[in-house]
Amino acid sequence: MFSIAATAIAHPNIAFIKYWGNRDPLLRLPSTGSISMNLDGLITRATVAFDRSLEQDILIQDGNEVPGPPLERVSQFLDVLRAMSGLSSRARVHSESNFPAGSGIASSAAAFAALALAGSRAAGLELTERELSRLARRGSGSACRSVPGGFVEWRAGEDDASSYAASIAPPDHWDIVDCIAVVSRAPKSTGSTEGHALADNSPLQAARIAGADRRLAICRRAILERDFQAFREVVELDSNLMHAVMMTSQPPLLYWLPATIAVVRAVIAMRGEGLDACYTIDAGPNVHVLCPASLAAEVACRLLEVEGVEEALTARPGGPARLVEE
Ligand code: PMV
Repeated sequence: MFSIAATAIAHPNIAFIKYWGNRDPLLRLPSTGSISMNLDGLITRATVAFDRSLEQDILIQDGNEVPGPPLERVSQFLDVLRAMSGLSSRARVHSESNFPAGSGIASSAAAFAALALAGSRAAGLELTERELSRLARRGSGSACRSVPGGFVEWRAGEDDASSYAASIAPPDHWDIVDCIAVVSRAPKSTGSTEGHALADNSPLQAARIAGADRRLAICRRAILERDFQAFREVVELDSNLMHAVMMTSQPPLLYWLPATIAVVRAVIAMRGEGLDACYTIDAGPNVHVLCPASLAAEVACRLLEVEGVEEALTARPGGPARLVEE
């Protein structure tokens, strides 16, 4: 049956091996592959309704109509869908999240993964997981990793058809937890789309790219063998490398706040006391602290003691993007 409206949910993801920089910014073909884990409990729910009576697309985010650049980005994404489906109607998009947007908790990943699934279904398309991942990538690169479930790898690929993400292990494969130390809920000043465009200006980006396949292989193996020690070393290295590139771009990007460093130091101190945890930071000041699930309650308590930490959210590995009944 041809359906004109559909709703889907998707989880954000935390990258263990980061995506930073594009070979093709329009198609969002990345300079390197990346690996992430979906975050259970954190959810974006998107409803897309195509409506012939609309003169333009409408975006309603967390109950408020949003004009300007966010609407333009959603409209461009809907244009990709319209070209795929032959539909010409404009759409009304409702998007709601239960976590802070734009502050390094991959809000665009969950939003475009949910939008790809809801939008394609509303447009009458039945896409495979791979096709959905490719479509989500056009909205936000990291969104392609929120389409499959659990632990996910995005192979950089050569072109639009070969650049998509797939699960490397299901959510129940490894009981690790992401304890997110929220130090700011303010939207970041430089979004990741702008940030990717600066990556190649950094003299360090070439070295980061040259070592990416090695780090991807170490991380993939560490996940498959549940080897937390190898995992934490490569995760921290990869995050530090990405932030070194950000800080040495022209103009430089510095996403950290004093509390970001305080959390990193607290994680290093915890490790010294035998609490096995590691940190990773996306394009924002909040710190994702990864640890075995058995340590998560203690790690979260310790994070809340750090000056500047407003909240500690915890998330286990999450499932794939999925359709929901309205
Ligand atoms: O998908 P984007 O354009 O929001 O880029 C995401 C970039 C990082 O979150 C910093 C790294 C990643 O791989 O998720």
